[in-house]
Amino acid sequence: MLPRLALFVASAVLASAQFTLPPALQAAQDSATSIVVSEPVTTYTNVSSIANMVSIVDQKGGAPSDSTRPGLPQQATKLTALDGKLVDATVPTINLELGGAQRREAVDYEQVFSGSKSGEPDAAIEGTAYLTYFLVSNSTYQLGLDECLAHCDETLGCAFVNLYYELNNPYLDFVFPEKSNLKCVLYGDVHNEEEKTDLGNELLPSIRTVIQQSSGYALQSLRKPADPAGYKLVFGPLSAANNAPQYMGFAFLDKYDVKACAALCNTRGADSNDGACKFFNIWRAVVNGKPATYTCAMYSAPTDASTATNTGQGDLQVTRSRGYVRINHIVDGTFEAYVCDDGDIFCFTEEAAGWVGSSPAGGQDDATIFHYAPYAHHGSSVALLGSAFGSDAYPGLLQPAWPITGLRHGRTYVLGFFHSSSYSGEELESDSFVTVWWGRSLVGNITVGYSTWAYYEFKVVAGRNNTLSFIGGQAPAYDFIDDVSLFLLY
Ligand SMILES: *[C@@H]1O[C@H](CO)[C@@H](O)[C@H](O)[C@H]1NC(C)=O
Ligand SMILES: *[C@@H]1O[C@H](CO)[C@@H](O)[C@H](O)[C@H]1NC(C)=O
Ligand SMILES: *[C@@H]1O[C@H](CO)[C@@H](O)[C@H](O)[C@H]1NC(C)=O
Ligand SMILES: *[C@@H]1O[C@H](CO)[C@@H](O)[C@H](O)[C@H]1NC(C)=O
Repeated sequence: MLPRLALFVASAVLASAQFTLPPALQAAQDSATSIVVSEPVTTYTNVSSIANMVSIVDQKGGAPSDSTRPGLPQQATKLTALDGKLVDATVPTINLELGGAQRREAVDYEQVFSGSKSGEPDAAIEGTAYLTYFLVSNSTYQLGLDECLAHCDETLGCAFVNLYYELNNPYLDFVFPEKSNLKCVLYGDVHNEEEKTDLGNELLPSIRTVIQQSSGYALQSLRKPADPAGYKLVFGPLSAANNAPQYMGFAFLDKYDVKACAALCNTRGADSNDGACKFFNIWRAVVNGKPATYTCAMYSAPTDASTATNTGQGDLQVTRSRGYVRINHIVDGTFEAYVCDDGDIFCFTEEAAGWVGSSPAGGQDDATIFHYAPYAHHGSSVALLGSAFGSDAYPGLLQPAWPITGLRHGRTYVLGFFHSSSYSGEELESDSFVTVWWGRSLVGNITVGYSTWAYYEFKVVAGRNNTLSFIGGQAPAYDFIDDVSLFLLY
């Protein structure tokens, strides 16, 4: 037993001696065994899981025939499934009004289907994205239709109306003040004649309601939704969904609501390897020609139309697929813009594109940017706090080279980054630290001693002085920072 133990101790001492080789001397990857090069975890979009859920979710509906009053505001967008489980929840309400409410201006509707002849039975639509209903003037059908389309014009997200008479409904005949049996039902998606499945129902014993002259009108062209605050449209509408890596999961929404999908992305828990949600893909699932649900797929890395390759499977068709990337207000947060001359694999600097490192009086290279893949979290470049040559123990100051732009005063942003303090090994890293400053306020203080790459995030409020500073490292306790992001939260 004893010799083996002795050998173990000897090699540990040898190893820790090698760790003191400072970062500026390019510690070879094999000698610095404490540097963990994280293998990128690749999780692709789980297409079959989404398709399975589409086949079981049921989010179709129409106007109620009960005491629910007409003209109620539409309900908040609902989640009907989340990560492969059916749910019934509303999307977390976060203030994303910055994206701007959009109203139609001049609108043109086209008839999708006409109703039965007067006096003949018909059926009402049961479809996705029901918004609300109104009772419109029943003196003539045309007058009611004009009023109905005007309601659609005024209702955010309305894309389609189903207009029909409902006979034998005592609420319409006697209770509601409109005294009209002509129902105008608003939807956020276009439906077709095959979705006329509501044949009326038995409201009073042995008296059925009867549907007549059920017609459908759709907007000629579906509007492009306004970009949600904090996001930019990168593609769409396409008939293919993203099949991309760094997939974080999906949700089904009860309507095609890009703001709701953005809210889900913003409130999604961070991925331990890739950080916050940075991209979402919203698309409509159409099964046998009928809209079934609206998928919101989330990713921890941005992607684009090149990965939009999933057009559907079997009866399921992908339609109206749009990709939105989350806007990062940090320029070159990955440090990848910094590369070496002559294509070298190793170099470092105090001033890189987008970043400036500085040392206190008497210090040298206390905050630097390195291009060397073994030091980086992802890619090849990374920032270091702590004297690069190990020549002093002063903390360094790392800041963006330019003012952070595009922030809205008073809004809350989430600052995220990866940190590692494993370079010199357990013992020598015990004094590692990084303080994070927003203007003159301390927002974070990382004193974890030895640590491999880990994700941190802090909320900051945009004010007049939006200065970001990292102060830390005291060689030989080194702190590495990578993949810095600043995203609008609410
Ligand atoms: C996809 O999701 C299903 C559950 O719906 C799961 O059984 C399967 O393992 C997942 N596939 C991958 C590759 O994660
Ligand atoms: C309009 O609706 C009311 C309430 O249901 C009904 O009493 C009336 O007969 C309808 N008028 C016409 C012209 O259909
Ligand atoms: C903004 O904050 C930084 C960092 O604390 C500070 O150096 C600078 O003087 C501040 N600028 C103003 C205008 O307050
Ligand atoms: C950060 O935390 C450490 C350990 O608790 C403490 O000694 C240090 O003063 C803190 N730094 C700041 C700036 O508050």
